[in-house]
Amino acid sequence: MAINPPVDATQTPAWAALQKHYNDLQAEGVSLKKWFAEEPDRVEKLSFDAGDLHFDLSKNLIKPETLKLFADLAKDVKLDERVKAMVSGVHINNTEDRAVLHTALRRPIEDEGKLIVDGQDVVKDVRETLDRIYAFAEKVRSGEWKGVTGKRIETVVNIGIGGSDLGPNMAYEALKPYADAGISARYISNIDPNDLAEKTKGLDPETTLFIIVSKTFTTLETLTNAREAKTWLLEGLKASGAIDGSEEKTAEAIRKHFVAVSTALDKVEAFGIDPANAFGFWNWVGGRYSVDSAVGTSLAVVFGPARFEEFLHGFHEIDEYFVNTPVEQNVVALMGLLNVWYRNFFHTAAHAVLPYDQYLHRFPAYLQQLTMESNGKSVRWDGTPVTTQTGEIFWGEPGTNGQHAFYQLIHQGTQLIPADFIAFVNTPNPTKDGDQDVHELFLGNYLAQTKALAFGKTADEVRAEGTPEAIVPARVFEGNKPTTSILGVALTPFALGELIALYEHITLVEGTVWGLDSYDQWGVELGKQLAKQITPAISQDDDALAAQDASTQALIKFYRANREF
Ligand code: F6P
Repeated sequence: MAINPPVDATQTPAWAALQKHYNDLQAEGVSLKKWFAEEPDRVEKLSFDAGDLHFDLSKNLIKPETLKLFADLAKDVKLDERVKAMVSGVHINNTEDRAVLHTALRRPIEDEGKLIVDGQDVVKDVRETLDRIYAFAEKVRSGEWKGVTGKRIETVVNIGIGGSDLGPNMAYEALKPYADAGISARYISNIDPNDLAEKTKGLDPETTLFIIVSKTFTTLETLTNAREAKTWLLEGLKASGAIDGSEEKTAEAIRKHFVAVSTALDKVEAFGIDPANAFGFWNWVGGRYSVDSAVGTSLAVVFGPARFEEFLHGFHEIDEYFVNTPVEQNVVALMGLLNVWYRNFFHTAAHAVLPYDQYLHRFPAYLQQLTMESNGKSVRWDGTPVTTQTGEIFWGEPGTNGQHAFYQLIHQGTQLIPADFIAFVNTPNPTKDGDQDVHELFLGNYLAQTKALAFGKTADEVRAEGTPEAIVPARVFEGNKPTTSILGVALTPFALGELIALYEHITLVEGTVWGLDSYDQWGVELGKQLAKQITPAISQDDDALAAQDASTQALIKFYRANREF
C-alpha cells in the first residue's frame, strides 16, 4: 500500500494556533510560579497514568489548554493514520521499502493469525522464534547446554553494535537484580581492540558463550570482533589443553560456544555457526527497535524466559495505551508533541533524560540511538526538504551524578533544556544510613531538582539568606526550566518494557510531525564507505594515501611517523 506524502506541519492551522499560543504566553510572561498559583488543579490536569507509570507534566511550559492545541496538531499531521499504518504493516519505512512492526514483537500469542503482512503471519513467526530462544535459554540456564569440555556456561558475551548492542546492554544493566541463574553477560561492540581485550579479561573460554548479533551479518565491527572472539576461544582452549587442534574438535568448540542472531541466516552458516543455533528476526524490525526481538537473547539467558515475557508485556501495555487513547489524554503522544513544542517554538536543541536509578545508567545512551538515528534528518519521507528544525540531542547521566556535573548549565545556563526525570518508588537495595532511608534521600534529590528548575530562587530570596549584594546575581535561579517527572513503582522487566515503548512512540510522534521516515539511517553510510577507502592508506598503500584530502593525509602521516609496531 502506498503511503501518503507527509503533511507540512508548519502550514497547518494547528501550527499557526500553536505559534499564536506561544506568542501569547511570551507576552503574558512564562512563569510556572504564577501558573501554579493561578490554577490550583494544574497538577491534576497535567498528570497522567499509563500502565503502572505515573507522569507529571505540570512543570512544563504549557497550560492545560495547550494540550488541545497539541491534539489539533496531531490531527492535522494525520498522526492517527501513521500509527495505524505502522501497526498494520504498511511499508512506512519507504526509503527501504519495509514495514515497521516492532509492535508485533510483543503481541500476545492470542493475536496469531491477526496480522498477515507480505503474506506472513507475523505474530506466529514471532512466537515460534521466541519458543526457540526460550528453549535455548532454559538449556543454558539449567546447565544442560555445556561447553566443549562439559562445563556449564557462566558468561554470555554479546557481540554486536548499535541496535544489536545498546538495547540488550542497557536492559542487562537495568535488570541486574533479576539475574538468577548464576550467568552474567558482557557486551562487546567497538571495533577498537581495547573493547574486546578488556571484556574478555578474566573469562574462561570453557565457560563462555558468544552470541553474535547482527541484523545484516555484514557489519564490519561485529564480524571483526566475532572472528577475533573465535581466535580467542580456540587459542585459549588449545593453550589449556582443553581441545586438540583437530578440525573436529574445532568445529565442536565453535558449535558449543557460538550462537547467532540475525535476519541473514545464510551468512551465519557461512561464518561457521550451526543454523540450529541461530535465531532469526525480520527486516521489519529496525536495529534500534529490536531489543525485544531475538536481539535480546542474552537477556532471556541471564534473566529467564518468564522475565523476558514480562518485559514484552510492558511494551505491549504501552503500545495498546498509545494506539487506543485519544491524544489529549495520551501522555505518550503528548510527550512527543511537547518535544516538538520545545524544539520548534522555543528553539531548544537538546533534551536531557535523567534516570534517578543507577541501574538505568545506560538508558540515555540507548535513547541516543533510538531518537537521534531516527529523527536526525533533513529530508522528509517524500524526499523534499524539511520545513522546520528536526531531531534533538538526547543525553543524560543517572542522578545524582549528573547533578554534580552538568546540571549547572541546565539551572543557570543560557539555553533551555527540557529534561525527563525518571525514578521508581521502590528499590531492590533498601538501605539505611543511621535513621535515614537512603533511597528516600535519593528521591529527595529527584524531587528537589525539578522543583528548583521550575520555581528557581529570586534575588530577594537570595538576599534573605544574608548573601553579600555583589554575589546575589550569581545565586539567582531564574526557574521556568521545563521538566517531566516519570515515577514508576519499581524497575521491573515490565516497567523497563514500558519505558522503552514510551520513547519508541515519542520518537514516532515527533517524526510524524516533521514528516520523517524515522526508520531508515542513511546518514551512517558515508562514513562506513570512506573507512573502507581510507583504511589501506593508513598502513602502506601510498596511492590510497595520495587520493585523500590534505587533512586526512596529514593525519595519516603523523600516524605513520609515530606508530610503535
Ligand atoms: O549504525 C547503523 C546500523 O545500521 C544501526 O542502525 C544498527 O543498529 C547497527 O548499524 C548494527 O547493524 P547490524 O545489526 O546489521 O550489525
